[in-house]
Amino acid sequence: MADRPRVFVSRVLPGGDSPDSPIGRLRAATDLDLWDGGDPPPAEVLRERLAQADGVLTMLTERIDVALLDAAPHLRVVSNLAVGFDNIDVPACTERGVLVTNTPGVLDETTADMAFALLLAAARRLPEAERAIREGAWGQWHPTWMLGHQVTGATLGIVGPGRIASAVARRAQGFGMKVLYHGRREVPGFPGERATLPELLAASDFISVHVPLNAETAGMCNADFFAAMKQSAIFVNTARGPVVDQDALIEALRSGQIAGAALDVMTPEPLPADHPLLTAPHLVVAPHLGSATEETRARMAHLAVSGLLGVLAGDTPATVLNPEAAAIHRSAR
Ligand code: DGY
Repeated sequence: MADRPRVFVSRVLPGGDSPDSPIGRLRAATDLDLWDGGDPPPAEVLRERLAQADGVLTMLTERIDVALLDAAPHLRVVSNLAVGFDNIDVPACTERGVLVTNTPGVLDETTADMAFALLLAAARRLPEAERAIREGAWGQWHPTWMLGHQVTGATLGIVGPGRIASAVARRAQGFGMKVLYHGRREVPGFPGERATLPELLAASDFISVHVPLNAETAGMCNADFFAAMKQSAIFVNTARGPVVDQDALIEALRSGQIAGAALDVMTPEPLPADHPLLTAPHLVVAPHLGSATEETRARMAHLAVSGLLGVLAGDTPATVLNPEAAAIHRSAR
């Protein structure tokens, strides 16, 4: 049908292909252009496909910048299959009347599970312990072998007290941990005590980062940050790789300035197997799996589709990050 909106989707979505799946809903309502490669569409393909598109459903791997937006004259909506949206130039979208939506709320618990899994894995040295068995390095039981760090009763410092952080703090309370948090504002109801960053860094046994990536947070976990942590403390990052100065982290791990780190996000992604980060001691890594469960990814896909279809139907769904763009959209098109 000629009058159906044309939508480009940059990866096969979770949830299958039935009529009520995320893809099925898109097929029913749009002229769907689906990129079914395992890797992201190359930049020139994205540019070519968006030249015709009214809407695009992106992953965090697609950069939506000024050049791309200028090559996409019909675009009305960018729907990101992620809560983070640092891959999208939102102000540039707003100027062009393009609404941007994301997937808040549906991945908080799942990502908090991952942050806590990483915290426990680093504290109790699980990857190292598993390697020891597989490599035949498991000797007789010894009272000083493979000792980790106590989680129960320890202090957790949370940097960036948003929804995911709050879910992490609740888990920490279940482990009898004291929770401190640092953020620009007091967060009423946050399960922890507010602290300045220096207070939090000096007092915490575990530090978990949950800030969005932006100009203010890029590189904020730097040499000074690690120097202010306890030498016995473990650093956990499930937010975005570039909030960490990775060279400073490698140095902090090598020098014993901090006791360990557990990362679900890093720079670059994917991280090459020969990257120097992987030579750092006491490091646990996961390949950006924070929201990666069947259930959560299906919920994210449905929410991203709802945001996209809502905008194409002329609404401004609650997930729209720049509702002010709707006015530009209405008057200019
Ligand atoms: C997000 O949503 O921003 C995560 O990084 C991917 O789930």
